[in-house]
Amino acid sequence: MNRSLLAIQVGVALLLAALGGCGPAGEAPQEAGAGAMTVGFSQIGAESQWRTAETESIRSEAAKRGVDLKFSDAQQKQENQIKALRAFIAQGVDAIILAPVVETGWEPVLREAQRAKIPVVLVDRGITVSDEALYATLIASDFVAEGRMAAEWLARKTNGQVNIVELQGTPGSAPAIDRKKGFAEVIDAQPGLTIIKSQSGDFTRAKGKEVMEAFLKAEGDRIQAVYAHNDDMALGAIQAIEEAGKKPGTDIIVVSIDGVRGAFEAMVAGKLNCTVECNPLLGPAAFDAVEKLLAGETLPKKTVVQDQVFDQAVAKDVIDSRQY
Ligand code: AHR
Repeated sequence: MNRSLLAIQVGVALLLAALGGCGPAGEAPQEAGAGAMTVGFSQIGAESQWRTAETESIRSEAAKRGVDLKFSDAQQKQENQIKALRAFIAQGVDAIILAPVVETGWEPVLREAQRAKIPVVLVDRGITVSDEALYATLIASDFVAEGRMAAEWLARKTNGQVNIVELQGTPGSAPAIDRKKGFAEVIDAQPGLTIIKSQSGDFTRAKGKEVMEAFLKAEGDRIQAVYAHNDDMALGAIQAIEEAGKKPGTDIIVVSIDGVRGAFEAMVAGKLNCTVECNPLLGPAAFDAVEKLLAGETLPKKTVVQDQVFDQAVAKDVIDSRQY
């Protein structure tokens, strides 16, 4: 669609909404028809319950707003994401939403998008680039803070004395780097908190289980706690702990990040001790950003999504109100 015509349409829609004539809440989903805004969404994959919830949030928000969404699942590979972005550029989409699998290696393709005047909205994970003008805005949680919150909870729970094994996320990804950093900041200041093993479980349940089995073989009873960079790996570790004849949540404390339904169920069952929320419901904010950009607004470089800590003490009370 012609960009200036689109900007006018978005502007009119926003004005009508402001006047109360077409509030999006409760509206019937619109059909993406001729002339609809076209947005390309490059998703990392479907490695976790969190990721599936994020995809669903973007898809349903696009449908609600009548956006023609071009969806691409990269199966965890950056090269697939780069290919998808090039295809979106070739198709002349109005905007691109990118959830980048790793932090580096994006500059060439982002320059291509910039040359084509297609704004790129980053969701969920940040990137490292020499020129921040290569993307319009980032909407994400503060992963360093999440790591800190997990460590602070564990320090309180164990009075600062515990041997920990760490299941890291995908190497090179922002959440793996930052959640490790935030956790380390807290435990490095407390000599009784020690990481005895640390390895990537790639954010998947299967890999989390496999790595935890190896940790248990190597360290056995020395392991007193697991810190997993996401709930899916924690759920895999819980299975490995049970298969080793131990009680997760009691013999070994388990703390993780995301706050997905499976984690709340495991907390209610007494198998997971704590999860730090990382909200994946980014669809509304992502499309608000796209609409504002196409209407000519400049956005803050980063919008931080607020998260909180949930442990077994509150799990039963809040499980029914969880949205993902
Ligand atoms: O980038 C967010 C992380 O990616 C989530 O914690 C994890 O579950 C996902 O795979």
